[in-house]
Amino acid sequence: MFYQGLPALYYDAFFCELDEAELLFYKQMIASVPSPGLEIACGTGRLLLSLLEAGLSVEGFDSSPEMLAQCKIKAEKASIKPILYEQAMQELSLPKRYGCIFSALGSFQQLAHFDDAYAALKHFYEHLLPGGKLAIYLYLPWYNAPEFGQWHEQEPIALQDGKTLLVTEKALHDPIEQQLFMTYRYQLKENGKIIATEEKDMVIRWYSRHEFQLMLASVGFKDIKVYNGYDDNGPSDVMIFVAGKIPRAEQWLFDPKNKNMVDELKEAFKQKVDRSIDLSGFE
Ligand SMILES: C[S@@+](CC[C@H](N)C(=O)[O-])C[C@H]1O[C@@H](n2cnc3c(N)ncnc32)[C@H](O)[C@@H]1O
Repeated sequence: MFYQGLPALYYDAFFCELDEAELLFYKQMIASVPSPGLEIACGTGRLLLSLLEAGLSVEGFDSSPEMLAQCKIKAEKASIKPILYEQAMQELSLPKRYGCIFSALGSFQQLAHFDDAYAALKHFYEHLLPGGKLAIYLYLPWYNAPEFGQWHEQEPIALQDGKTLLVTEKALHDPIEQQLFMTYRYQLKENGKIIATEEKDMVIRWYSRHEFQLMLASVGFKDIKVYNGYDDNGPSDVMIFVAGKIPRAEQWLFDPKNKNMVDELKEAFKQKVDRSIDLSGFE
């Protein structure tokens, strides 16, 4: 597992900071549907804690106990009490149902295998309230990856505890399986000496727009929209898929195999109701 040891301890120092556009995107999404929301793979609470601070009702889950531990430490410092679960996306089973389920920063792509990804989407669908929304952030991981097969040294990161984090990374990819293989070497430096070294692998799966739309549709999601980044402004290496769970009654109405019965009902309805009611939307 990648998110343990140094990568979990220094996640917030190494991975990207929360920006206003990201926060606004999820705030609007959560506010547009019934509470609560659920963040998939919430990690150290980079996004989750800011949403809670903004007064939104959101819970989170992650498969890494070490990432969740970091989240709890930060929450305690900010006097926030998040509801957190240690669970894996592909086996998600929670006692509640949610108005919005969302995955930020490509967390969903940590599922390297298609079967796991598909199982996770089914679980998200089951955990949504009727009328709820799913939002999944996907990116093209090879777009900004270092030259394949070469070690690449990142800028040293000065940590709050006075130490320095050195990260070296190497990327390989399998274009047929749509997988990027990253190896990260983390080195912790104190007073000019390396005091810890860890090397960890991560596999990231990527998707094409149409492939992911088809996956969502085959799980039962409707009204699928794709945003090119948070501001949806032109081409981007980021796609945010937003898909709805239509209430069961409406699904029945729109299912082609019920067409004859729906037509008969419409006809019976038309003959019974006041003719002044506009039925054009049902034609
Ligand atoms: C890039 S971090 C993103 C964390 C957080 N969503 C954020 O935006 O900062 C990816 C997270 O996915 C979690 N993760 C990886 N595989 C998972 C799985 N199968 N189920 C649940 N969480 C998983 C990791 O533990 C890690 O916290």
